[in-house]
Amino acid sequence: MIRHIISAVQFKEPKILNSILDKAEEMEDDYKKGKLRPVLKDKILASVFYEASTRTRFSFESAMIRLGGTVIGTENASEFSSAIKGESLADSIRIIGNYADVIVVRHHKKGASKFASKFSKVPLINAGDGTGEHPTQALIDVYTIRKEKGRLGNLKVALIGDLKYGRTVHSLVYLLAQEKNIELFFVSPEELKMPVTFLNYLKVRGIPFKEVVDLKEIASEADVLYVTRVQKERFKNPRKYEKLKGFYIVNKEIMQLAKKDCTVMHPLPRVDEISPDIDSDPRAAYFRQAENGLYVRMALLDYVLNNKK
Ligand code: NCD
Repeated sequence: MIRHIISAVQFKEPKILNSILDKAEEMEDDYKKGKLRPVLKDKILASVFYEASTRTRFSFESAMIRLGGTVIGTENASEFSSAIKGESLADSIRIIGNYADVIVVRHHKKGASKFASKFSKVPLINAGDGTGEHPTQALIDVYTIRKEKGRLGNLKVALIGDLKYGRTVHSLVYLLAQEKNIELFFVSPEELKMPVTFLNYLKVRGIPFKEVVDLKEIASEADVLYVTRVQKERFKNPRKYEKLKGFYIVNKEIMQLAKKDCTVMHPLPRVDEISPDIDSDPRAAYFRQAENGLYVRMALLDYVLNNKK
């Protein structure tokens, strides 16, 4: 039983991962049939976001409300909570735990959610900790891959863009590493390579991977093209960001090279790394991926709030 959701590594046991994905499927089905039950009635979710968010916060809050619960929170905790008066994250979490049954935290500092969880008397969910991880997004990503491809193993997956600062790809590596017959392509400019910790994690497990700079080199081989945004907010030097932001653009030309049954994903928001020209291509799955956020987060909230085991 997982109490706080901090890292995707916590889902490495297939039994836990599959039970979440199956539950999300059930939630999706019930939702679409108008048969959702209020399984989170009388529960309160506190959303505590120190960094910007659209999908993550709205889908967590929507998931909570759709399942009969209620939501309290602040969309800009750095300014609108007592953080601006100098209160520590530890104290804020200690206090919020008195008023809510689950706390969802997004913070600019890597490791902040793990730290905060030590002071939380209720389950705490990491909704992104700086350049660290984003485990619930990775669960949405594997849910999407399973739905789009009908399988999670036997896949060549290309992770493209900002692999250094992008927290979604970090968590996704942990989940994909558990699957059978996975091959990974890390496509990034030299400056934004996947950190060594993750490469070592794969090496120890014997998972084949290849690092490339040129997207065209692997575009025709990958079953999944997972594109990411260059993380502007992590750059100290804005000129460096300007230089790297348009490094990859997935457009019609790339889609012509890609497999006929390839799946294009992106955690969103996109800036210019995916051309809107390909939005109507049936292989473009990023808007379906964002929709899946609702179902997976319903399953996760049900798991942390109702699983008594
Ligand atoms: C991502 C994030 O916040 O890490 N967005 C999301 O939660 N879907 C990706 C990003 O901001 O680039």
